[in-house]
Amino acid sequence: MVTYTLKVIEVRTETEDTITLCFKQPALRKIKYLAGQYLTLIFRINGRRYIRPYSFSSAPLVDTGLEVTIKRVPNGIVSNHIHDTITIGDSIEVMQAMGDFVCETPRAQVFLWGVGSGITPLISISKQILATSHKTQVYLIYGNRNHESTIFLDQIENLQKVYPEKFVVKHFHTKMKINQNNLGLIEGRIDQTKALNILQELGHLEDASHYICGPTGLKESVKFALKTLDVMPNQIFIEDFVLIKDPKDFEHVKTQNVKLKFEDQDYNLEVIKGKSILESALDAGIELPYSCQTGNCSTCKATIITGGSKMIGLSKERDDLLEAEYLLCCTHPLTENVYLEVN
Ligand SMILES: Cc1cc2nc3c(=O)[nH]c(=O)nc-3n(C[C@H](O)[C@H](O)[C@H](O)COP(=O)(O)OP(=O)(O)OC[C@H]3O[C@@H](n4cnc5c(N)ncnc54)[C@H](O)[C@@H]3O)c2cc1C
Ligand code: FES
Repeated sequence: MVTYTLKVIEVRTETEDTITLCFKQPALRKIKYLAGQYLTLIFRINGRRYIRPYSFSSAPLVDTGLEVTIKRVPNGIVSNHIHDTITIGDSIEVMQAMGDFVCETPRAQVFLWGVGSGITPLISISKQILATSHKTQVYLIYGNRNHESTIFLDQIENLQKVYPEKFVVKHFHTKMKINQNNLGLIEGRIDQTKALNILQELGHLEDASHYICGPTGLKESVKFALKTLDVMPNQIFIEDFVLIKDPKDFEHVKTQNVKLKFEDQDYNLEVIKGKSILESALDAGIELPYSCQTGNCSTCKATIITGGSKMIGLSKERDDLLEAEYLLCCTHPLTENVYLEVN
């Protein structure tokens, strides 16, 4: 696991529960990244190592520093640790940039669909495209409770001033009534009907791509609207901040004892039904490598030598994995003789 140490040069308050950490780019070992990718932060809290990915809210060709934006999650260990303890001058260990939620060659129209903290990769992509691609029209469709909880409202308004033709924003607010002073707002959630209306109003969809980052409701609504309009799957990109597990997939999963080999040492591990092998190993103090915990990055890849296992919650097809290769953040044992090696 290649790591870097970054210095915090600013901590910016975005909303009541969201801050941005700004890091100085190291002079020598610079972090290379693409708009839409994420940075993985590593902390030691009460003796235990915690690793969490945060999408860049900065854009590589626009911002000089590196920025990530963190929303407090109720009872969340790392997000609250960052909010409560990190200050200017602190050094934080990070991994190299990762992620495939990127837009390297933008189409004529790029639709960015986000809710809440899902804006982070989308603001990065917006800034990058607007600054570098003269032909691309960018649409941001962004849902929040109200103005006060809208992350990056100022940045968005500035971008609209600088790029009035190329950047169109539709704000959805669930806790605000539309009146004479805010006619530009749309009341309610971004649901299937409203997503469809927006696409019909704005889009020439043949040469468009769609980036979605937010809760399941947003993802399903936008996907439904896009499917209705025959938008091809290769035009749709999704970033998940959390792994969604369907209880039905656990039907044949039981609590099992698993053996694993890591750095030439063998461990016996009880994997309780519902927990992944990665979560169980981390709970047992085995510091396996990982980052996204959503089946995307492959940092937790292992080879199953014996026994049956299954991956649950993968939101993307992973046809790059060999038959015996599993992502431990999503892997659950099916039989009692599972033995695996962490590569
Ligand atoms: C690719 C990627 C990019 C991400 N980018 C960002 C980002 O830009 N900004 C940001 O704030 N977060 C982002 N996250 C989420 C972030 O990595 C952490 O998961 C989040 O900060 C919670 O960590 P925690 O340690 O505070 O909570 P934990 O202690 O890990 O979790 C506490 C509880 O909250 C639930 N939970 C975890 N994350 C969320 C969430 N996001 N929303 C609702 N419930 C949750 C967990 O299931 C658990 O039940 C990203 C995640 C991924 C995979
Ligand atoms: S930690 Fe990223 S795929 Fe498992």
